[in-house]
Amino acid sequence: MTVTEMTIPAIDLTPLIGSRIDTDIETLLSGRYARDIRALLASRVVLVFPEIGMTDEQQIAFTATLGTPANENNGYAGPDGKPQPIYRVDAAQNDQHAIRRLRNNFLWHLDGSMHEVPILASILSAKQVAPAGGETEWANTCAAFAALPEAERDALENLRVVHANWALARHSNPEPTYAEFEQSRRGPSKSQPLVWKHRSGRKSLVVGSTAAYVEGMEPLDSLDLLVRLRDWATQPQFVYRHEWKVGDMVMWDNTATLHRARPYELNCGRLMHRTVLRGEEPIA
Ligand SMILES: [Fe+2]
Repeated sequence: MTVTEMTIPAIDLTPLIGSRIDTDIETLLSGRYARDIRALLASRVVLVFPEIGMTDEQQIAFTATLGTPANENNGYAGPDGKPQPIYRVDAAQNDQHAIRRLRNNFLWHLDGSMHEVPILASILSAKQVAPAGGETEWANTCAAFAALPEAERDALENLRVVHANWALARHSNPEPTYAEFEQSRRGPSKSQPLVWKHRSGRKSLVVGSTAAYVEGMEPLDSLDLLVRLRDWATQPQFVYRHEWKVGDMVMWDNTATLHRARPYELNCGRLMHRTVLRGEEPIA
């Protein structure tokens, strides 16, 4: 393990992804290290704050030191009926929509792959952990792209991939009724570059469970490429796996990672509180 040279002390968790920051809540809320944290987020893509134990109010305030918080509505609107700044990731309401969404989280994806501007980052705090399973994994899609042979990188940069709700839906319902298929087809769909050329100069692969097909490619060749690149990007050297303890907080760069939860019993009480930072650039 090496200590990264930043003002805020950080320790690499693996060579290519993940840093641990041991500090206190007051330091984080002061905003003093916000710039360092953003820089570290861009280079290490996953930041772990072990057992820091923030309250919702503290997590919301910390999120606001780093960018523009985005409200989310996962069906648990507040008393005023408006989306809440804290998103509950759990199966407490036991509604089918939430359950399907939790199951979709078991597949590698990035959030907002069908949006013009995907969210920049997510921050998850563990309130209750699963007795078995439920770890979260992230893959560094910048490091994965950089590790490809140069000729392949150049060829991939010209390709576009359609990300679609219907493609995601088929993972959990491979033999839909026609009515179910039609409904999934009415959901969002968006053509995106396969390689995201970030304004910072970084380049990342945009693949995962919403990737339906590569534009202009034969179906089998398209599937071959999408499976191969997702498999490539999620090799152990690009992945950090977090085993949650109550009070852990983990932040990740959604624009440079794929993530997934490892399977767990959905009704076990596992509960994460999530805040998000609004995206700052389109996939281009
Ligand atoms: Fe997600």
